[in-house]
Amino acid sequence: MANMCVVGLQWGDEGKGKIIDILARGFDVVARYQGGSNAGHTVVIGKDKFVLHLIPSGILHEGKTCVIGNGVAVDPVLLLQEIDELRQRGVRVADNLFVSDRAHVVMPYHKALDQLWDQARADGKKIGSTGRGIGPCYTDKMSRSGVRMADLYDPAVFHEKLELNLEQKNGILAGAQGQPLSLGTIQKEYLGYAERLKPHVCDTVELMAGFLRTGKRILFEGAQGSLLDVDFGTYPYVTSSTATACGVSPGLGVPPRHVGHILGVMKAYATRVGGGPFPTELTDRIGEDLRTRGGEFGATTGRPRRCGWFDAVAVRYAAMVNGVDTIALTKLDVLGGEKRIKVCVGYKIGGEVTRRFPANTALLDRVEPAYEEFEGWGEDLSGITRFSDLPKAAQSYVRSIEDVIGLRIEMVSVGKDRAQVIRL
Ligand code: GDP
Ligand code: IMO
Ligand code: MG
Repeated sequence: MANMCVVGLQWGDEGKGKIIDILARGFDVVARYQGGSNAGHTVVIGKDKFVLHLIPSGILHEGKTCVIGNGVAVDPVLLLQEIDELRQRGVRVADNLFVSDRAHVVMPYHKALDQLWDQARADGKKIGSTGRGIGPCYTDKMSRSGVRMADLYDPAVFHEKLELNLEQKNGILAGAQGQPLSLGTIQKEYLGYAERLKPHVCDTVELMAGFLRTGKRILFEGAQGSLLDVDFGTYPYVTSSTATACGVSPGLGVPPRHVGHILGVMKAYATRVGGGPFPTELTDRIGEDLRTRGGEFGATTGRPRRCGWFDAVAVRYAAMVNGVDTIALTKLDVLGGEKRIKVCVGYKIGGEVTRRFPANTALLDRVEPAYEEFEGWGEDLSGITRFSDLPKAAQSYVRSIEDVIGLRIEMVSVGKDRAQVIRL
């Protein structure tokens, strides 16, 4: 099977952007299928650092086609900003970028509501949304009042939908913010964005079908992570989309049998931004060191990421849901310097140890991790390109992780740069 889906196996920020950029060379098309500008995918090429939010991470390669599928929540303001920024930096964004006409549009009221909804939650219960309007946009999609890209090219339809939405939402917004949103202003603004985006917007279902028919190789780019998936993640501390590989079909109109190889990306430890349970979280010096060495600050919001030990219970569950074939392990270099490294291999609940990831999120807050301990290493791994050149303790850590999750690791990343990768 020529196609591949790259998916995060933790709470996002596993390094998907870097891995996709490395793999993109072997594919013709890179396609996003869910999420929106809540994502931040970093690609580092020498001195240049790119953070992509909506545009697939394949855009940095000449000759690749990038697709933003119908399952993506598209914020035209941020998409245009991203296009402009890339062009200013010499990246070609033209007939190599397609946006689905069925994609839902993130509107100003979605962003306002996103903030309000999270503010309304009690302390300790906040989701910690990125505030990009993603949850409210998908809420409208499901309640069938959403605005889709195609609507922006039919002013009468757009007007009608906008009127309905503002009737529903302006009461809440005016109460909270002191003033309602203006239909006329939004309409004018969004019709302008639509005009600028017109060369990119098309029926991507037909487009993808054509790619499949002609044997083009497609790389599906997952955003967020499996533990943030709306069904399989730590609900309600999740995002509002299907962040597992299961989202490819509904998010692009690609039949399930074409999804192909599933590559799971995971860090050699764990991180999470925002609220929600995190059994292996380290609130001590080690957590602080991982954050500093790993540069664990949000690529989208700049917030410090919570850090902890690798959680094999959570990852094994995520790999099961995705049907993961092989693994890319990232940020192994960041563990360097720790004398002892721990891996959570079970959860202790009421005197018993389970290897199952529970549905009850409140229970996850109370589980005590059962750890296996490994010897650390002091060497700098960032220049190593062969597995056999890694310190013995690092090799042993990688092999032990393979054993505990029962999957083969095919890539080990040891630094931010495109070139810092070991193929196994
Ligand atoms: P994504 O959302 O999964 O694409 O991940 P992010 O880009 O949000 O976060 C990953 C961060 O780790 C970025 O700053 C990357 O540049 C960086 N990174 C990726 N792989 C490695 C690695 O192997 N080692 C180190 N030190 N940094 C890495
Ligand atoms: P990438 O693709 C890490 C988190 C937010 C919050 C929760 C809900 O870069 O891995 P939302 O804005 O969707 O309402 O936020 O999900 N979150 C992410 N965390 N990486 C991401 O994307 C994320 N996208 C959303 O921090 O806890
Ligand atoms: Mg990210």
